[in-house]
Amino acid sequence: MTKQEEIEQLKKERDAVILAHYYTRPEVQAIADYIGDSYYLSEKASSLTAKTIVFCGVSFMGESAKLLNPDRTVLMPDESADCPMAHMVTRETVEAARKKYPGLVVVCYINSTAEIKSWSDVCVTSANAVRIVKKLPGRHVLFIPDRNLARHVASEVPDKIFHYNDGYCPVHEEMSAAEIRKLKEEHRDAQVLVHPECGEEVLALADYTGSTTGIIQYAKNSAAGEFIIGTESGVLYALRQARPDAAFYFPQTEPVCENMKKITLEKIAGVLRTGNNELPRMEDQVSEAAGETLKKMLALA
Ligand code: 13P
Ligand code: SF4
Repeated sequence: MTKQEEIEQLKKERDAVILAHYYTRPEVQAIADYIGDSYYLSEKASSLTAKTIVFCGVSFMGESAKLLNPDRTVLMPDESADCPMAHMVTRETVEAARKKYPGLVVVCYINSTAEIKSWSDVCVTSANAVRIVKKLPGRHVLFIPDRNLARHVASEVPDKIFHYNDGYCPVHEEMSAAEIRKLKEEHRDAQVLVHPECGEEVLALADYTGSTTGIIQYAKNSAAGEFIIGTESGVLYALRQARPDAAFYFPQTEPVCENMKKITLEKIAGVLRTGNNELPRMEDQVSEAAGETLKKMLALA
């Protein structure tokens, strides 16, 4: 029996579905029931009826699925697959800002721990951040943890006063603007599609800035035949399916999220077989408040 066949059989036995983010390995995306960006996956997780969700993504993604579905079993193929940015803000930063700016709204990127979500008023993803921030009351916004997405949203919502935190995604922040410029010189007709977690210099070179789904949809609907992609290289799997006729170029220093790549078919079969790495049910004030910020996001998006 192949690993894929074994996974199919185990899924039936456990009444399980597999959710995978676009940054996971191609073979993982190939066996997933649903593939998407953070917003799609959290929305999908809250509308599923299967008993078990195998979440092929980093910790905050599985944790969000569990917060929205406390009664369902959520299995993480690799418990150590974590997003460093999800920890990059302190409670002191949030409390100091709340004291300084009365009426402040604290907006947290879904790339954050449940604890960070619990200090916040509303959660967003890169796919809905602009739309949701436009709907918020008050003028002052503290956007945590990502300073790059914060700057992008601020540029799209000029009537709000943004306050920043120093978090960032190492994979996107380290993307080199010089390497993108070189690709632009080599492929003069190519469109540049980037994720808003990239630094300012890279965003300035973009024809389109958006979430992973946004990038894939843009390429799908574009008349262009060549694209320079400024996000994690796992999106290539979906890009090739969306536009088999197009050419895609990534920066020479390949953007790879090592944490997403920890998830393998072997580990998926392992958790389905054993039931190991089940996320615990959280029943405290932190999880209740964190769940509320996620539900608010789903309602506003
Ligand atoms: P998306 O929500 O665009 O999929 O991004 C998630 C992420 O982790 C980007 O680094
Ligand atoms: Fe986190 Fe960056 Fe990996 Fe996304 S690509 S999961 S933000 S480390």
